[in-house]
Amino acid sequence: MIQLPTDLTLRLEKIFTKQEIKDLKDTFWLEKRPTTFRINTIKWNVEEIEGELEKNKISYTKLDFPENCYVIPSPHPSPKERGSRTVSESDLWKLICYTSGRIYIQGISSQIPPTLFSGENPSKILDATAAPWGKTSHLSALYPDAQIYAFEPSKIRYDKMCHNLKKLWCSNVETIYDSIENIEKHIDAMSSWTWFRIFPGGDNVSKTDPATSAGWQEKECFFDMILIDAPCSSEWSLLYNNTKFLENWDISHIKKNYKRQKRICDSLIPYLKKWWEMIYSTCTLSPEENEWVIHYLLCNYPELELGKIELPDTPEVITKNPLITFERYSYKKEISENCVRIIPSRYSEGFFIAKLIKKEA
Ligand SMILES: C[S@@+](CC[C@H](N)C(=O)[O-])C[C@H]1O[C@@H](n2cnc3c(N)ncnc32)[C@H](O)[C@@H]1O
Repeated sequence: MIQLPTDLTLRLEKIFTKQEIKDLKDTFWLEKRPTTFRINTIKWNVEEIEGELEKNKISYTKLDFPENCYVIPSPHPSPKERGSRTVSESDLWKLICYTSGRIYIQGISSQIPPTLFSGENPSKILDATAAPWGKTSHLSALYPDAQIYAFEPSKIRYDKMCHNLKKLWCSNVETIYDSIENIEKHIDAMSSWTWFRIFPGGDNVSKTDPATSAGWQEKECFFDMILIDAPCSSEWSLLYNNTKFLENWDISHIKKNYKRQKRICDSLIPYLKKWWEMIYSTCTLSPEENEWVIHYLLCNYPELELGKIELPDTPEVITKNPLITFERYSYKKEISENCVRIIPSRYSEGFFIAKLIKKEA
């Protein structure tokens, strides 16, 4: 049995109930979660993908939520899955639907944040922390008529992202190799952008955004939707036999991360248009990087309000309300009422998601 560092155990006991901790510990023996993927609806449709899986005798389950999400039985099948052929992620790599970018291997929880924006017909969307590109490509599929800007400051991750966004046909995404904290120096270039769309059917279109071509001067209030899938201490991966992660777990990573998360949010609030939304998500369990960051934003930006996130209750996505207190800190109670924590489980990564709406100050 894997031993957790004492500090981490004590923290988990303050975040989760006894039963939740027991369930978490039951997943430690898993070497791997079941492989899950999302259909890239820019390129392909459900029937064609299912046809290719069946031709290759790969069993799958299509989930009702999130939309277009599939689960492939894992190397350690649950009683329900026993008897089906077990497939590993590398089996999927051989399929044409994978090599041609028609499916994207992605955790279930990661498929949720881009679907939670409620505005219609956005013209400009920012994916502030974009690599490795999973949520950027999802936004591109969900909002094909919007211009999407994707920032990433790590060169290796940026280059991979550019390559793969092309492979997935995300032609409405402009990538920017820089820290989002430097956004101001890119705004002028972003506002004079013209885009060229190549449709699979060859019906090509070139389009200039009328708002920007008319001479957009304001440096503030630029985006209709902002996604901050923040760099974080990734504590969800402490499950699934990740001994390397456990050896390196240290409270100092959490402190470093929440300072960076607050800086990223601070640099973006002025660029969110009024009445539009910002989604903040992380895959860490630590309240300092989740509830505390949102508490900080609500205290410092009176123009921000929380939007309610309601996820369907399914066996694959198990949720709980965020915390009201943690150690000596208390958080605004609307955080617990409106945001959501996804509990790490056999199927899903642990996640925290908040939706912030910009209203009148
Ligand atoms: C959690 S990952 C994002 C995952 C991505 N949204 C996806 O779904 O594939 C966070 C990313 O933020 C990047 N990052 C770190 N600091 C950043 C900054 N200051 N500005 C923009 N991105 C940053 C990291 O290099 C990392 O690629």
